[in-house]
Amino acid sequence: AELLLLNGPNLGILGRRETEIYGTDTLADIEAAVAEEVSHRGWKVVAVQQDGEGELVRAVQGAYDTVGAIVNPGALMIAGWSLRDALANYPAPWIEVHLSNVWAREKFRHESVLAPLACGVIAGLGSLGYRLAARALLDRVAGS
Ligand code: DQA
Repeated sequence: AELLLLNGPNLGILGRRETEIYGTDTLADIEAAVAEEVSHRGWKVVAVQQDGEGELVRAVQGAYDTVGAIVNPGALMIAGWSLRDALANYPAPWIEVHLSNVWAREKFRHESVLAPLACGVIAGLGSLGYRLAARALLDRVAGS
C-alpha cells in the first residue's frame, strides 16, 4: 500500500525557513520519519512537494489508489479552493498537518478551507505532527 505525503508552497525549504517557527528538520527528514513510521505495515510513502497549487491538484488526482494522505497545504490552507475541490474527490482518509500552531499566529491563518474535509488536523507539534498523522492513518486504515 502507498501513503501520499503532500507538502505545499514554501515547505521544500524547511530547515532554512523561519526556523524559530518551523524548526530545523528538513523536508527530507520529515519524509524519512513518515516512511519509518509506516514501514512495519509494508506501506510505502509517495512524497510530493510543490509550490504551485495546480501541481498539487494533479498529485491528488493521480493518487486515488493510495490508502491515505498527510497534507500540509502551507498557505493554501487560507484560500486553496482548487486543492480543496481535489481533496473533496480523494477517496481515502487524509489528515491536515501544520508544523506551527496556526491559531497562535496571525488571524489570516486561523481558518483552513481544507480542514472541514480532513478526518483530523494536527497543528503546533512541529515535525512530530507528521509522525502522529501517520500513526493515526495506520489506525484508521485497518486491514491494508
Ligand atoms: C504552515 C502554516 C501556514 O499558515 C503557513 O502558510 C505555512 C506553514 C505550517 O506548517 O505551520 O506555509 O502550514
